[in-house]
Amino acid sequence: MKDKTKLIHRHGDRHRFNTVNPPIERASTLLISTRETLQGKSTVYGRMGLSVHRELEAAMCDLESADYAFLTSNGLQACALASAALVKAGDHVLYADCLYGPNRRFCQRRLRSMGVTSTRFSARIGQQIETLIQPETRLIILESPGSLTFELVDLQAIVKVARAHNIITVFDNTWGAGVFHRPLELGVDVVVQALTKYVVGHADTMAGAVMTRSTKIANQIERCKQDWGFSLSPDDAYTALRGLRTLHVRLRQHEANGYALAEWLANRPEIDRVLHPGRADHPDHHLWQRDFSGACGLFGAIMAPIEDTQLDRFLESMTLFKMGFSWGGFESLLIPCCDQLNRLSKDPIHDRTGPLLRIHAGLEDIDDLTADLAQAFAEIER
Ligand SMILES: Cc1ncc(COP(=O)(O)O)c(C=O)c1O
Repeated sequence: MKDKTKLIHRHGDRHRFNTVNPPIERASTLLISTRETLQGKSTVYGRMGLSVHRELEAAMCDLESADYAFLTSNGLQACALASAALVKAGDHVLYADCLYGPNRRFCQRRLRSMGVTSTRFSARIGQQIETLIQPETRLIILESPGSLTFELVDLQAIVKVARAHNIITVFDNTWGAGVFHRPLELGVDVVVQALTKYVVGHADTMAGAVMTRSTKIANQIERCKQDWGFSLSPDDAYTALRGLRTLHVRLRQHEANGYALAEWLANRPEIDRVLHPGRADHPDHHLWQRDFSGACGLFGAIMAPIEDTQLDRFLESMTLFKMGFSWGGFESLLIPCCDQLNRLSKDPIHDRTGPLLRIHAGLEDIDDLTADLAQAFAEIER
């Protein structure tokens, strides 16, 4: 064999070591031994997923109590896949106004371009959602707690109405992460998660997943995923799988820090109100108690009215807390988010005269976190 050929064909036993974790196979081409293989259903191309994808899919099924899982390269793609796979031109979709902004935009812009009409509804609508159903309504898209303002949907009431009308429900469960909330067990048909957040847990990888128990729905999602060519890189699937191993312990610490921070903030004069569904002072706390078993580290706070310059001084004085989008990583984040807020109704939960903050409690020592905020608050009056 000539040198050039040797460089290409030299390889050893690919499965020699009995590693704890699955191997990361980086592959587009998979070698096929017989022509017959091509006719079967086996994996014949990298985009279909490899060892690490199969393990992550199985783990996501365990996490969300699902039978089928589909991986995507970020959370928004998972939201988009779930909706687009289940509708066709002429259909109508209902979506909660508290959805993650880009997911809302997907309903408004992309579904419309596919010939699908949509109506958004206030997340706290409960069984009144029935009044919005049209003969063409195929899907109800939910997220709870809602992005930015943390209102809850009355999931059981909405699922009951959806079932009665043969409408599929899709639920973004990124906040509950499959640990604190199991929507499929409460009758939801499809769950999506931005694995980017708590599953990955280290702010270094983006990934998403769609889960269901229904074979019919799974077939539709599978076909849509094939048509659009959605996939997740093996390295990113590996990182997400690694994150899953420690998800429960990390979430317990995020939860404890989140409660402690919320309580500390609730007693500060600079804060009007905290928006944390796990607290008794949250207007939807009874729904949280009924449907959730815990709270992650993400919650909101409404500040007492201040000038923009004072807000800037506060934000720029933080040292441990950083401003940044996303959440679910080990690091604490705090971001003003009035500009992203876009709600239908004037629900009392959104009422505010001061800035709205979104806070992610990381894994740092709580005393350091409160000390950081205390010194940043002190800068407001400087
Ligand atoms: C609730 C929720 N769903 C979906 C997404 C989208 O995830 P990704 O950033 O991985 O696209 C986000 C991102 O912030 C989110 O907060």
